[in-house]
Amino acid sequence: MAVIENSKITIVGAGSVGSSVAYAALIRGSARHIVLYDIDTAKVEAEVLDLAHGTLFAGSGDIVGGSDIGAAEGSHVVVITAGAKQKPGQSRMELAEVNAGIIRTLMPQLLAVAPRAIYVIVTNPCDVLTVIAREVSGLPAERVFSSGTVLDTARLRWLLGRRAGVSAANVHAYIIGEHGDTEFPLWSSAMIGTVPVLEWATPDGGRLTVGELDRIAVDVRDAAYQVIRGKGATNYAIGLSSTRIVEAVLRDEQAVLPVSTVLEGFHGVDGIALSVPSLITAAGASPVRETWFSANELELFGRSADALRDAIGGVR
Ligand code: 2OP
Repeated sequence: MAVIENSKITIVGAGSVGSSVAYAALIRGSARHIVLYDIDTAKVEAEVLDLAHGTLFAGSGDIVGGSDIGAAEGSHVVVITAGAKQKPGQSRMELAEVNAGIIRTLMPQLLAVAPRAIYVIVTNPCDVLTVIAREVSGLPAERVFSSGTVLDTARLRWLLGRRAGVSAANVHAYIIGEHGDTEFPLWSSAMIGTVPVLEWATPDGGRLTVGELDRIAVDVRDAAYQVIRGKGATNYAIGLSSTRIVEAVLRDEQAVLPVSTVLEGFHGVDGIALSVPSLITAAGASPVRETWFSANELELFGRSADALRDAIGGVR
């Protein structure tokens, strides 16, 4: 992919997620300049060195970084991954208090060096932290949003594509709501190619059933728990999905991705960050207000908002 001239991104946090975002961005040639920042000098310098050693085989970006936040100077996009991560069986919401403190510390420091950047919150619970980041920064909602359910949507499309015998790129279905236990698929608008999901002919000549779709939705919702049980964290797919968001901003793509912005007057939701299909441009993310919901989906959306409202109340 052609690198946007002089594009610069900073990834905050050199843990498994942040390093994977940097690795994905390097390989995909997402930006001309990639900065990896962390307060742990030894760790971040080792990650930067290890990544830089591979640049010969990667895209045309370069990677630098360290524990001096000044390296983020003038970044176009800042991806925040720093914070505590889920332990096996722990929900993302249980990280809210400790990671809200990290966001409150980081945002003023980052704005001082990258005042015009678009901020993408990956640290969990990313929806709650997006509200905190927006409050602390005073930025407009479109400029500080979270990776939300972009990863969950990728999981849904992968699972559905496998069952339907179709490339995930041609599965047009979204997971929306909380990036967490109350997330749900927008089945009412889900298509495979130009065919509604329940009418698609599967390779065995049958059809997808409602029961199968429900099981796929549960597998998507619980995917992170499954991976964390086995390897202690998720990192590759969140690294790739975060990089996809960065590219849509840097290339002013006008892409539709289910990121999470603080909603105002959206199907009755105010002041809560939830993922809905959103238009991603160089200016940031704006929710597609014409997104259609069935009555059942509206109820599920309200439940997601309630869960987040409670969690936000707990960290304010
Ligand atoms: C994920 O869904 C843990 O939020 C991270 O992989």
